[in-house]
Amino acid sequence: MEVPHRPEMFDFHGVCMVHQFTDNWDNLQNFKARPDDILIATYPKAGTTWVSYILDLLYFGHMGPDRQTSIPLNDRVPFLEICKPCLPTGTEQAEKLPTTPRLIKTHLPVQFVPQSFWQQRCRIIYVARNAKDNVVSYFHFARMNSALPEPGDWSSYLQGFMAGKRAFGSWYDHVNNWWEKKETYSNLYYMFYEDLIEDCGREIDRLCSFLGLSPSVEEKERVRASVTFDSMKQNKMTNNSAVKTMNHKVSPFMRKGKVGDWKNHFTVAQNEKFDEDYKQKMKNPDLKFRFEI
Ligand code: A3P
Repeated sequence: MEVPHRPEMFDFHGVCMVHQFTDNWDNLQNFKARPDDILIATYPKAGTTWVSYILDLLYFGHMGPDRQTSIPLNDRVPFLEICKPCLPTGTEQAEKLPTTPRLIKTHLPVQFVPQSFWQQRCRIIYVARNAKDNVVSYFHFARMNSALPEPGDWSSYLQGFMAGKRAFGSWYDHVNNWWEKKETYSNLYYMFYEDLIEDCGREIDRLCSFLGLSPSVEEKERVRASVTFDSMKQNKMTNNSAVKTMNHKVSPFMRKGKVGDWKNHFTVAQNEKFDEDYKQKMKNPDLKFRFEI
């Protein structure tokens, strides 16, 4: 079997990136956001797909079963910075979206978000996940997805993550800088993966109030039931089973969907070192993560 070619990481304006997220840079930076666009922003593996699907169902769940059974979620909620050979870029996909509001996802650090999103005062939802589960999820994702750099073994992967040497840069900078943005940009809603796991219905309510939506109790329940881990894992439109660079036999995209899986990966020594380093990098007492629930 052909061994897939893995991309290299490089420094891009001070952030570790891979070329498929920077190749369309000028078009990306000139992207024309519209005032009703909704941007879902995350560090990779923090729950992007989950929140994208919740929003897609809240806005377009009434459009009938065809949309839900025939259009992969990735096409309904384009990935803004993606640029792969022979495929439409994320910006082209977003420009062609037939529905309003446009739901768009990104993993960009806050300083790389195209200016028009801020100028148009778009609503932005940032989803954050605790660093330990986030790095475990990213490790398995890098193993199964040949579009990402070779992850190496777990121990070196973890070290690289702590050093900010992963695609989209430092997790620590990502979550902190987006958190700070909230102070000056009121249309930003910052939410946590752990809260979604704890009570998805409550989080859907909070999202609805941020978005000014008022679905009926039945509609909300339909959304909640459709976005459980098990139903999204079974659903070919949300489980990424058709993405060519992903090998689900190595690790499924819908892998575990839990809080605390890091305990099955971190050694005691790795955990101590991680905690020490974490304290140095995460000085803002207002930004608190839960590592278990
Ligand atoms: P794990 O690898 O820990 O299982 P992203 O969409 O940002 O790439 O994040 C993927 C992570 O979110 C994976 O984590 C995936 O299983 C988890 N996830 C996706 N949908 C979920 C759901 N409905 N419930 C819980 N976790 C979900």
